[in-house]
Amino acid sequence: MAFFETGGRSLFRNPIGLDYDYQPKVVKYREMEMRQVAAAIRPLFQKRSGRNVFIFGPSGVGKTVAVRNLLNELEQETDEITQFYINCWKSDTTFKVLIELCNTINYKFTQNKRTEELFDIVKKDVNKGAAVFVFDEVDKLDDIDFLYSLVEDVFNKSIILITNHKDWVVNLDSRIKSRLTAEMLEFRPYDLTETRGVLQERLEFVFGPNVWDADAFEAIVQKAFSAQDIRSGLYLMKEAASIAEERNSGRVEASDVASAMAKLDEFSIKRTDELEDESRFVLNIVRKNSGRKIGEVYNAYREAGGEMVYKTFQRRITKLEEDRFIVTEKITGGVEGTTTLVKFGSEKKLTEF
Ligand SMILES: Nc1ncnc2c1ncn2[C@@H]1O[C@H](COP(=O)(O)OP(=O)(O)OP(=O)(O)O)[C@@H](O)[C@H]1O
Ligand SMILES: [Mg+2]
Repeated sequence: MAFFETGGRSLFRNPIGLDYDYQPKVVKYREMEMRQVAAAIRPLFQKRSGRNVFIFGPSGVGKTVAVRNLLNELEQETDEITQFYINCWKSDTTFKVLIELCNTINYKFTQNKRTEELFDIVKKDVNKGAAVFVFDEVDKLDDIDFLYSLVEDVFNKSIILITNHKDWVVNLDSRIKSRLTAEMLEFRPYDLTETRGVLQERLEFVFGPNVWDADAFEAIVQKAFSAQDIRSGLYLMKEAASIAEERNSGRVEASDVASAMAKLDEFSIKRTDELEDESRFVLNIVRKNSGRKIGEVYNAYREAGGEMVYKTFQRRITKLEEDRFIVTEKITGGVEGTTTLVKFGSEKKLTEF
C-alpha cells in the first residue's frame, strides 16, 4: 500500500513564515509605536542616556515583533550600542537574567559566580559604551530588584519593559518606579482592516498564488479579529493548509478552516491569568519543579508556604491537567512502586504550532 504517497507539491512555499519565532521584515501598522521607541533609544547614539519605555497591550498585538524589528534595524545601523533582549518567561529569576545578559556580551566564565559578580561584569561592559535592555513579559520575573541596580549603576541605556498588564507598572515598587520614569506606550488591538492586512501579507509570503479560497481566508481574518490576536490567525492558517494538504487538495477551502477552528477550540489553553490565585501558585511550583515526582512537587509547595493537604493538592493537579496547563505521566514498577511525574505544560499562547 502506498502509505507514504506525498500527493503532489506542498501548499507551503515558505513554511518558516509560520514558525512561532519568525521575524517578518516589515511590521505594518506599528510605525508610530516604533517611532516612539526609536526616539527613546536615539540619545544612545551620542553616548547619552536614553529614555525608558513601558510597553503594554494584550496578547498577539505585535509588541514583541515591533521591538525586535527595531532592534534588528539598530543592529544594522551601529555596533556601538549593545542590545539585550530577555524573555522573562524563560529567564524568570535575577540569576537567569544575568546569565542571559552575560551570554549576550559573550562572557563565558559564569560558572560558580554569584549574582552580584555577574551584575558587575555586565555593568562594566555596558558602561564602556551604551546599551538597550529589553525585558519582554517582564511581569513573569520573580524578583525585580536588579532593575533598581540597572537603573542606578548602568549609565547610557534605555530600558524597554513589555507586558500584557498595565497594572504591573502601576503596582511597581515606588522606589523603582520613581527612578525608572518610563514613558507609557500602549499597543492597541488591530482593527479589522489591519488584522486582514497583517494576515494577508503573511499569506502572500508563505503560500504560492491561488492557494487560498477567498472565503477561507476571510473566515480566518474574522476569527483573529474577534480574538484580537494575530497569533490565532497564523495558527489557523497553518492548520487549515495542513488539513488541505492531507486531503491532497491544491487549495485551502472554507471547510479546511472550519476543521482547523474545531481543533483550535479543542486545544486552546486557558491563559494563566484566568486562574485563581491558589491554582496559579501551584502552577508556578510545578513550573519550577517540572518533571519531578508529585510527592516532591508537593513538598516544594509546602516549603513555599502552601497549605493544602496532599489530597486537595492532587485534585488541583488533576484540574490543572484538564485545563492543559500541565501534563502528568504515570511511572509504574519503579523501586518505589507507581508514581506520577508532573510536568509543566506547553507554553500558554499557541507559540508551539
Ligand atoms: N504588524 C505586524 N506585522 C507582521 N506580523 C505581525 C504584526 N503584528 C503581529 N504580528 C505577528 O503576530 C504574532 C504575535 O505578535 P507578537 O508576538 O509581537 O505579539 P505580542 O503583542 O508580543 O503578544 P504577547 O503579549 O502574547 O507576547 C507574531 O507571530 C507576529 O509575527
Ligand atoms: Mg510578546
